[in-house]
Parts: sequence; C-alpha cells; structure tokens
Amino acid sequence: MEDLNKYIRDLRHDFSQMQLNEEDMSHDPSLQFEKWFAQAVKSAVNEPNACVLSTATKEGKPSGRVVLFREFKDNQFGLFTNYNSRKGKELQENPFACLTFFWPELERQIRIEGLVEKSTQEASDKYFYSRPRTSRIGAWSSPQSNILKNREELEHLVTGFDKRYPDEDVPRPEFWGGYLLKVNYYEFWQGRPSRLHDRISYTLQEEGTWKIERLAP
Ligand SMILES: Cc1cc2nc3c(=O)[nH]c(=O)nc-3n(C[C@H](O)[C@H](O)[C@H](O)COP(=O)(O)O)c2cc1C
Repeated sequence: MEDLNKYIRDLRHDFSQMQLNEEDMSHDPSLQFEKWFAQAVKSAVNEPNACVLSTATKEGKPSGRVVLFREFKDNQFGLFTNYNSRKGKELQENPFACLTFFWPELERQIRIEGLVEKSTQEASDKYFYSRPRTSRIGAWSSPQSNILKNREELEHLVTGFDKRYPDEDVPRPEFWGGYLLKVNYYEFWQGRPSRLHDRISYTLQEEGTWKIERLAP
C-alpha cells in the first residue's frame, strides 16, 4: 500500500442498518445477549463466539487476546485455556476481566465485564474430553505464552506427547481448564449514522437486579 495512513484516514463507514430502543431491550441482559447471538449466527457472522478477553496484572497493566467462549449460562461465560499462560497468570493475581465482541456484519459491539474464577474440574474434564485427540495433544504440547527457540521445539514436544499418549486416552493436564466470567456489566452498541450510535448498558445492582441506562456515543 502506497500511503497506509492516507488510506486509513479516508476509510469511512456510516452505520445505518438498525437502531436500539429502550423499549425493545429485554429486562434480562442474558436474554438480550442470546437474542443478539442468535441474530449473529443467522447473519453468518464469522466465528460469532470469538471475543477479545482483556485481563490486567495486579498493577493494572492490561493485555488482550481473542478467545472463543464455549458456554453461556446464568450470566456466566465459560472459556478454556492454559492456566500457566499470560492470561492465566494475570487472572490469578487480578480476577477482573472483560470480553468484547465486534460483529461488523450487524454493526454491533457487545462489551462485558466481570469477575473470573476457575471452572470446576468436572466442567474442564467434560470440555477437554469432547475435543479431538490432536487438540488434547496440543494442550499438553504448548507451554502457552512461553518463548520457544523455534518451530521445531514445538513440533518436538508434540512428537513426545504423541508417543506418551499413543491412543485416544489423553488425560487433561492439570494446567489446562476452564474459566467462568461472572458478568456484572453489559453494554450493547448499535452503529448509527453520523457516529450517533446507540449504547444501552446493564449494571448489576446489589439486590441482583439490572439497572438499564443509555450512554452517549
Ligand atoms: C479466533 C481465535 C480463537 C482463539 N481461541 C482461543 C481459546 O479459546 N483459548 C485460548 O487459550 N487461546 C485462544 N486463541 C489464542 C489467543 O488469542 C492467544 O494467542 C493465546 O491464548 C495466548 O494468549 P496469552 O499469551 O495472552 O495468554 C484464539 C485465537 C484466535 C484468533
């Protein structure tokens, strides 16, 4: 590209497909999320369960990466990863985290905030044993987030675990499992013309109800 910065500056997309009105929102944000998720699936959004998981160290230094959520129930998002990874270490020292979805096909963003805790051993086992053998070997083989000398080092680890677990019986490593993000805040964002977007938030109150508010775009 000849002039990347000029190209970026001139990118203009006016959002105009839909609007978000208070009276159309569910009182329960989990129902609202399920409704939007179903619409994302229907609209063939690519990887609709992909979202950015943001974490931070105890000093507040943030980091983000894409993950796939694998479960949604009772305002809790379940995802799976390596507990020794960078995200795992950050969640260990600071359980506050966010998920951010962007579904450009629908001109929608959803922001989610909450506290994270580890899933039960049973839930981690259930998901781990539902994965193909190669993914289970992959979980053993990747010291996720560690520095590797080269690609061969990873491939060597895979060969080693392949030999160690030669058939379908690949156990779940202790360092691999689920996290549950317990939501206390949602924001549903719908793109509107001239950057005058609609934003509706749900904040969990002490008594367990959700306070619904409109935010300026
Ligand atoms: C579409 C997509 C889905 C991903 N899903 C997961 C996932 O579910 N779990 C996971 O640990 N990493 C997943 N990753 C890889 C992460 O983005 C990241 O590279 C990895 O978890 C290491 O992150 P960390 O070093 O910050 O811990 C996914 C990446 C992409 C692009």
